[in-house]
Amino acid sequence: MDLSQYMTQVTADDAIVWRNGHLCLLDQRKLPGDVTFLELNNAAETARAITDMVVRGAPAIGITAAYGVVLAGGMAFQSSSEHWKEALKADLECLKRSRPTAVNLFWALGRMEALIKGLPEAGDPREALLQEALAIHKEDIEANRHMGELGASLLDVDSGVITHCNAGALATGGYGTALGVIRSAHKRGLIRQVFADETRPWLQGARLTAWELLQDGIPVTLLADGAAAHRMAQGGVNWIIVGSDRIAANGDVANKIGTYSLAVAAKYHGVKVMVAAPTSTIDMGIACGSEIPIEVRGEDELLSCGGRQIAASGAGVWNPVFDVTPAELVDAIVTEKGVVLSPNEKKIEKMMANTPESL
Ligand code: MRU
Repeated sequence: MDLSQYMTQVTADDAIVWRNGHLCLLDQRKLPGDVTFLELNNAAETARAITDMVVRGAPAIGITAAYGVVLAGGMAFQSSSEHWKEALKADLECLKRSRPTAVNLFWALGRMEALIKGLPEAGDPREALLQEALAIHKEDIEANRHMGELGASLLDVDSGVITHCNAGALATGGYGTALGVIRSAHKRGLIRQVFADETRPWLQGARLTAWELLQDGIPVTLLADGAAAHRMAQGGVNWIIVGSDRIAANGDVANKIGTYSLAVAAKYHGVKVMVAAPTSTIDMGIACGSEIPIEVRGEDELLSCGGRQIAASGAGVWNPVFDVTPAELVDAIVTEKGVVLSPNEKKIEKMMANTPESL
């Protein structure tokens, strides 16, 4: 579907759109060259879009899956109006299998399942499911705007920032987590320079973060991933600001592969590390980072680029797409409930109970 015909200018905030009973996703694999939308009509298509990276980024995956449940609920009710809850189960499982690391997926599906549990078996669930998915979407945007303000308050004037992957509007319901902080700080005149790691192999930094920031008139300088430590050694970098796919109860942070090495280099150079993530990214059921399931994707993602083979034939490949940064390397976790400085289990627990220390 060419949704762009309905819009004068497509922005990163339009990445997930519910329109006339369909889910429309901006195809992030094609950005920035092509701005096209895919129309999804059932849970299997939604799960495939998540697996294949049409939509990516932890909160965005959760929101998309919630809309996938709306599609699944509609189909289940049409095929079996008396037993739609049973008919829905396979689709819920299909959505759960779409990607393993971002806990927001399981959080959003859990929220939809809790709603389903309370709905009458004999009754049309479609409106209630849609309202819940829309609420998840809206709350995520509100959380991001609040985190943006909280995170920006940690920055001094003339800050140099490095970000990794894409934790912007494209990766969320809108505004972004790490990019939300950068947007808010830029509005306050605190940012001197933003560096974006290109983020191999999907190039989320070069393709998506740069596209988003430039749309907002925020200048951005790209770095090859391996250039970040050298950039820090030159001086002028004050903060690493990233998002997260899952934060363990002790504050260990899973995020895009390369975040860990960035945090190690930051420690060495006296650069601070901020992780901006909504509480839907915090998994209190996981004690520490070693328990976080790390997605390993196909070897072709490293062997090829843009559809062309770039590696020597016969080379083996290991392609984990997330890593874990230990809490001791993190200076601040910023959530919509508040800021946790030098995170540990006790402080995270307190923040989750809505009594963050620095509020
Ligand atoms: O593989 P991706 O593109 O889904 O990975 C995304 C990231 O690692 C983001 O940094 C993370 O999801 C935070 S998004 C607000």
